This record gives sequence, C-alpha cells and structure tokens, in this order.
Amino acid sequence: MDKTDNRVLQITPDVQWIGILEYNIVTFDVVMETKYGTTYNSYFINAEKKAIVETSKEKFWDVYEAKIRMVTDPAEIEYIILDHTEPDHSGNVRNLLNIAPNATVVGSQNAIRYLTDMIGNDFKHLVVKEGHTLDLGNKTIRFISAPNLHWPDSIYSYLEEDKILFTCDSFGAHFAHPEMFDDLVGDWSDAFDYYFDVILKPYSKFMLKAIEKIRPLEIGTICTGHGPILRSSWKEIVDKSERLSKEYLAKPEKKFVYIPYVSAYNKTGMIAQKIAEGIREVDGIEVEVQDIEMTSIGEIDEKLTRCSAMIVGSPVINQNILLPVYRLFALINPLRDKGKLAGSFGSFGWSGENSKMIESNLRLLKLDYFDAGVFVKFTPMDDELQRCIDYGRAFGKQLLEKISN
Ligand code: FEO
Repeated sequence: MDKTDNRVLQITPDVQWIGILEYNIVTFDVVMETKYGTTYNSYFINAEKKAIVETSKEKFWDVYEAKIRMVTDPAEIEYIILDHTEPDHSGNVRNLLNIAPNATVVGSQNAIRYLTDMIGNDFKHLVVKEGHTLDLGNKTIRFISAPNLHWPDSIYSYLEEDKILFTCDSFGAHFAHPEMFDDLVGDWSDAFDYYFDVILKPYSKFMLKAIEKIRPLEIGTICTGHGPILRSSWKEIVDKSERLSKEYLAKPEKKFVYIPYVSAYNKTGMIAQKIAEGIREVDGIEVEVQDIEMTSIGEIDEKLTRCSAMIVGSPVINQNILLPVYRLFALINPLRDKGKLAGSFGSFGWSGENSKMIESNLRLLKLDYFDAGVFVKFTPMDDELQRCIDYGRAFGKQLLEKISN
C-alpha cells in the first residue's frame, strides 16, 4: 500500500472514491496472482442521508479512516451498503460502525447473515431484495439482485440521480494505478481477463442474468470493488463480460483432458505421455500434458477451468506425493469442477503411496474418479507403457460416454 495516499477522487459532484491502493500484494485469497496489485474500492455518497458503499480490507483501517474523515463526520453516516461481504470489502465494517454508530448496514439476506457470522449481530441492518429502493433524501438507490457473483450474497446498487451502478467484484480487476479512472490507467485488459477467468467465469450463467437486468439502466459510470472506475469503458467491459460468459457456456467442439504431473526422473513423465497417446486415439478429444513443477498458478487455473477431465500424476518421495501436486489440489474448485472425470498415475519405488493419496484427494474434491489409475514401480517397461496407452484410451472413451449421457 502507498501509505502516503490520502486522496479521495471525485466521480460526480456528490460521489467520491475513498478506496485503498495496494501495490505490493503478491497473491489474492492466497491463490490468485496479483502482479498488477489491487485496489479496495469504497465510495461515499454525499446525499441528505450520507452513505458509504463497500468498505475495505481490515488491515488498511488507518488510511481508510483518514479518508472517511476527509469527506464527512462519521457520525453523520446513515447507511453502509455492502454489495458483497467477502472480507476484502467488509473487513472494515466493524471499525466503521465504531465511529459511525448511527449507520444501518444494507445488504442481501445472505450478506447480513454472513456479516453476522463475521462481526456478531449487534448492528442495525436492512435486508434488501430485487427492486427495493433506499431513500437518501435527495437521492435514491435501487437494488438489483445479482446472486453468485461470486458469492450467494452479491447484489448491485444503482444510484439513480448520478447514474452510477455499484457492482463490487463484477466488472472489476486486480489492478492498481493511482489515476483510478479507466481512461487514465493505460491498458489493464490482461488484469481484467485474468480476474474474469478466475473469479467470475465459473458463474457465467449468473453473469448473463445480471447483465440482462442492467441493460435497461441509464448508466454513466460503473463503480466496481477492484480496479479502475469505469466512466469511459463500462459498456465495452459489460459487452466483453457477456461475450466471455457465452463462450464459456457454449459446448466446446472438442473435449479437453488436462494431464498435470511432476516427475523427478521422468518416469512419471513417460507415463503421462503414453496416457495422452491412448487418449488421442479417441476422436473428439484434445489433450495437454504439462509438467507443473514451475507452472504459474494462473496458468494451472486456466487449464483447470477449461478442462472437461483431468488425470493427475506424481511420483513418491519419502512416502508422500510432491508439493506442486498439493498446489494443484488447492486450485481445484469443487463449485466449478465437481463431477469432472478424473484419473491418476505415477511411478514409485517402495510401497506406492501416490495411488491412494491422489485418488483420495480427487474424490474429496468431488471429482468423478475413473478407476485405479496407472502406477508403475520405478521404470515403466514395454508392457506397462502399453497399459498406459490402454488406460488413456479407456479414459477417453469413458469421457465421451459420460458427456453424451
Ligand atoms: Fe473482492 Fe469476492 O471479494
């Protein structure tokens, strides 16, 4: 974070950005690379009844509090609107309530429930649903139900008089730039694409529903929870989100089998290649074999998102499978990947713990485990290499059968 950043930015005469820039974050939620940094966007609405939209990550309270005090007396804040309660946006609600004791927290039923579990239940709250409005005196906020983007609690808030749509994670990106406005920050498309892939793409069905609801709105600016404020390119970003969602939901012509593995002496690598050879004998299936020892989490995540099935390989060292494979397991998202066909393979020297370890993790992650996999003592010989090809062919056929049913 830039600790000297004490700026607030004017979006319209009555709406200001009071968010936080964090430049040096390496990963977000531990698993997402953030090479462009990120922002925690929070907004102040200077209406007759003053409101804050989203807060920020708890550890930035000092800077955040200073920004709030720059725009208002906290005791005058009447509403804290939360479009989503993940702690990067709700982390300072408790601190804010301590200095804004008159404020009512506004959110969906799920948002209020989650927040109660995060900070206790001793706060005033208001549950809003689709079409509800909030009267700020001289301004009105209309709420739009937009669940599962990317939590069940998510909503959008539309400030009618200022034509501002607050969307939190939707249409956002992990991208920090001091200028903040989309027409001033340069090219941030790489950050947008990656964010969409990881956070929103698995929920494309819900993204399309939300976009349909906001199409009739007269929008001047979209104020997201992360990254640039969309005063110039909001339509382009919404259109792109719609296109990417439709592409994701369209059935690909070819099924894609991802074969991630690690290998100390290329014995497990040999097995991977032979399994792929067997799969390629089945028409209509694309295969990619990848040594994941040095592969970035972003690249692995992209493959996991895109694949129709996966076969995971690891050798055994000291009675355990290897760290990159555990990292892969951490990137499997059961909400997204549940039911995908999965298999396993590997070389071993002594007692072959890799078989049970890979299988049990894949099952725990709710994948549809195919069968016992291919596990070979030390070097795979000709008959065992043939077994790998046979396994790959059988796996491919099973995938086509599963998808056609
Ligand atoms: Fe940016 Fe899902 O929180």
